[in-house]
Amino acid sequence: MHVQAVRGFRDILPEEIPRWQHLEATARRVFETYGFREIRPPLLEYTEVFTRSIGEATDIVEKEMYTFQDRSGRSVTLRPEGTASVVRAYVEHHLHAAAPVSKLYYLGPMFRHERPQAGRLRQFHQVGVEAIGVADPGMDVEVLDMLMHLTDTLGLQGLELQINSLGCPACRPEYLRRLQEYLGPRVSRLCESCQRRFRQNPLRILDCKVPACQERLESPPSILEHLCPACRQHHQAVRDGLAALGIPAVDNPRMVRGLDYYTRTAFELLAEGLGAQNAVAAGGRYDGLVAELGGPDVPGIGFALGVERLVSLMPQPTARRRPLVFLAALGAEAEARLLPVLQALRRQGIPAERDYGGKSLKSQLRRAHRLGAAYAVILGEEELGRGVAALRDMVHQSQEDVPLDRLVPTLVSRVEAPAGPAPPSQVREASP
Ligand code: HAM
Repeated sequence: MHVQAVRGFRDILPEEIPRWQHLEATARRVFETYGFREIRPPLLEYTEVFTRSIGEATDIVEKEMYTFQDRSGRSVTLRPEGTASVVRAYVEHHLHAAAPVSKLYYLGPMFRHERPQAGRLRQFHQVGVEAIGVADPGMDVEVLDMLMHLTDTLGLQGLELQINSLGCPACRPEYLRRLQEYLGPRVSRLCESCQRRFRQNPLRILDCKVPACQERLESPPSILEHLCPACRQHHQAVRDGLAALGIPAVDNPRMVRGLDYYTRTAFELLAEGLGAQNAVAAGGRYDGLVAELGGPDVPGIGFALGVERLVSLMPQPTARRRPLVFLAALGAEAEARLLPVLQALRRQGIPAERDYGGKSLKSQLRRAHRLGAAYAVILGEEELGRGVAALRDMVHQSQEDVPLDRLVPTLVSRVEAPAGPAPPSQVREASP
């Protein structure tokens, strides 16, 4: 039987993990500096959590959700994004009663049945944040500053932050009317999806990815020119706040996002070199969502980063691992003597490895080298007879005898001593 991973689902192999762990650790550190705390909602929700928040007429809800009936006949969905789940948890656990603002972050897999391609998967991962309870544009600025802080700390360059305002229930309907009026005579020349969107979700026509549609749109009315005074003021305050912090941002009045819950600020962080799927992060304000999911009428704002896309732009981190000790035993008696040494090293947090199957010294040392061991301990009959083990410094190619009863403390002190410079000719192989 030939089994393989489900289409659009991929394994993250050990070689890739250092970047993932570096991203996750950096994100946790940065978010916690800004007062965000981790939340871990489940991967599965009742379907209405997503249909009521993301919107019935969005691509995600219309055709991308992994929805099925559980054994009791209720419709459940694997989460396509994190915001709706976090807001559901916020409402369910009355987090609004505990503090005027909840700053939450999450990491984990999301599921969307999209057409897989470079940078687009059916199971992908997000690192996301949600700040619920503050309407002040200062929170928009804080969240965007945190996003840029994270990508700067990860060493990412060439990113462009685009922002827009999607208005509010006071000004958006009038803008939509104007937009439909403008699109009316042009709609028959747009792609099939845009023709459908014209009735259900005309805003989405603005960021249709079909190049011909973009051309045929010519110059549609800009939402930024149709904001009500309160939304205009909010947008200007966000722009001013970003400028005061030296964060460059470009207004893009055609950026509308694929989820319906947004109000006012919406943004995307775009990267060069990612092809068509060039958004590494995206988010915005969702001032009506908490009430929509049955909670109090409190505002919110957040973003999510696409981990696979981000990781593909990151250099391999140069993590400092503790040096590895390799124990090479020759014969059963030597093996028995080294077993407690192996255990003692590991219990003191020192990475240690052995070989199995009674291999030759040459073969064992080859493996030690391949694993990038800093030290090898060699114990054969001759050494056993003298009550010592040979301790080889694999980097400096030197060797000395150490009494067996001093082996563990000697190794501990060597491993914990600051490393001397490696000889220039020494090429280290990949560490485990
Ligand atoms: P989103 O734009 O749907 O927003 O997704 C955010 C990011 O997730 C994207 O910019 C992209 O990097 C990544 N992403 C999305 N779909 C895929 C996919 N199929 N394969 C790989 N990566 C993908 C949201 O999900 C909102 N919940 C963000 C948010 C949080 N808004 C407010 N708070």
